[in-house]
Amino acid sequence: MFANLLRLYQLPRLVLQALPSRALCASEPRFKLDACNIYEKLKFEFDEENKKQAEFLMCSYPEAERRAALLPLLDLAQRQHGWLPITAIQTVAEMLKLEPFIVWEVANFYTMFNLRPTGKLSLKICLTTPCRLRGCEEIMLTCENMLKLKDDETSDDMQFSLNASSGMGACVNEPVIAVNDDLYEDLDVLETEKLLSELKLGKMPPASQCRDRFASEPRSGLTSLLMEPTPAGYGMQELYSKLKPC
Ligand code: FES
Repeated sequence: MFANLLRLYQLPRLVLQALPSRALCASEPRFKLDACNIYEKLKFEFDEENKKQAEFLMCSYPEAERRAALLPLLDLAQRQHGWLPITAIQTVAEMLKLEPFIVWEVANFYTMFNLRPTGKLSLKICLTTPCRLRGCEEIMLTCENMLKLKDDETSDDMQFSLNASSGMGACVNEPVIAVNDDLYEDLDVLETEKLLSELKLGKMPPASQCRDRFASEPRSGLTSLLMEPTPAGYGMQELYSKLKPC
């Protein structure tokens, strides 16, 4: 009975191992079958410099935990190629001695990885609940209108890509747009229009501008932590002097 159950549990995994990469792609919502057909034959190899960097990354972990280098290696591959073709996923899988579908699943999970060619400027907008409460849908709409793109599209001149994203880690300064590696925070429609106009002119305004406040402080001013912070170890000398030697 237990052996049968185990076999049943292993079946999907065995089937996945036996399938060609195209079939794997078909089961994933972020990467459509037609895209796989077009892109899966592209060659990918780390260049000389990145090979050394990849070696260094892999050697940063004990032999038995090499898989910990998975995210940095995928990131390195994407920085070299601009996006992650299926051959890059296979290369990384071979380097880490992992099943390609495991690497594929990881790349699919993180929206920072692009599984198809992307524009020079990749705009990602967080649409998770806290950002929705702060009006990210309007920001998305503004981007769609100004860039004439829908979610998951790239402009014909390959300048802009637009993607809905989630949980970008800037909940206290939302709504946010990530432009490549930079976050633009505290946006409203007007700020978004300004940002997009500058990007269209080829300018990159300084990232992480917070309107009317310092960092993540409340706009209405501080409500706690109003005093100067005390230095590290404050009060410890006094406390020690009161302690009786045992
Ligand atoms: S929910 Fe959007 S950045 Fe946190």
